[in-house]
Amino acid sequence: MFVIRKPENAQEIEQVRDIIRRIFSELHAYYALKGLKNHRLLVAVCDGNVVGFIQFKLVQSGNVRIGHIYYMGVLPEYRGRGIGTELVKCAEKELVSKGADCIIASTQRRNQPVIKIFTKLGYVVTDWDEVTHIIKSMGADVEDPYDLMWLIYDYDEVVLFKLVRKSLTSKKRVTSSGILS
Ligand SMILES: CC(C)(COP(=O)(O)OP(=O)(O)OC[C@H]1O[C@@H](n2cnc3c(N)ncnc32)[C@H](O)[C@@H]1OP(=O)(O)O)[C@@H](O)C(=O)NCCC(=O)NCCS
Repeated sequence: MFVIRKPENAQEIEQVRDIIRRIFSELHAYYALKGLKNHRLLVAVCDGNVVGFIQFKLVQSGNVRIGHIYYMGVLPEYRGRGIGTELVKCAEKELVSKGADCIIASTQRRNQPVIKIFTKLGYVVTDWDEVTHIIKSMGADVEDPYDLMWLIYDYDEVVLFKLVRKSLTSKKRVTSSGILS
């Protein structure tokens, strides 16, 4: 059994730092550690220990509120039990409650566990051009993909995207190619 919640003390944040150092390459660990300073953080706790985490934030562009899911990770010995899926669900819930219109994450094409988690939760696999086009049509102040990458400070290979604002999801649909119809 595990619970997902906000970290309750400095020791739990230190446990997140340990997970980051353990599971990421030096480059990604650098960005994930930095991400702890300016993102919301949820942790997965199992038997009193932090075994996973997710970083996310809400950014405003024009009149679009973009939820961005940044780094997430689960200790290898705790993977495959649904913790990663639950971390994304909880981050999404918090972003929606804060008024997100859409949620963006990005990853490498070979990271099948991440792609599987997000597609299972209704995200489409797309690219930076397409997402820029979509959020621009929603009223975001972005001219090209670099504006968006700069805004959320993310640039990985494939983009996972989901509309979450009720008034949008009822009228518009994102197809598997990412097109807003
Ligand atoms: C991505 C990660 C957080 C997932 O955590 P998790 O707790 O194992 O996630 P879940 O148990 O909810 O689900 C993982 C899904 O990926 C699937 N999966 C696992 N390994 C896989 C693989 N090699 N190929 C395809 N799918 C795979 C699982 O079957 C599961 O899907 P299912 O629920 O349909 O069976 C974890 O693998 C991790 O920490 N990876 C290293 C860090 C990382 O890559 N983070 C993301 C980039 S920031």
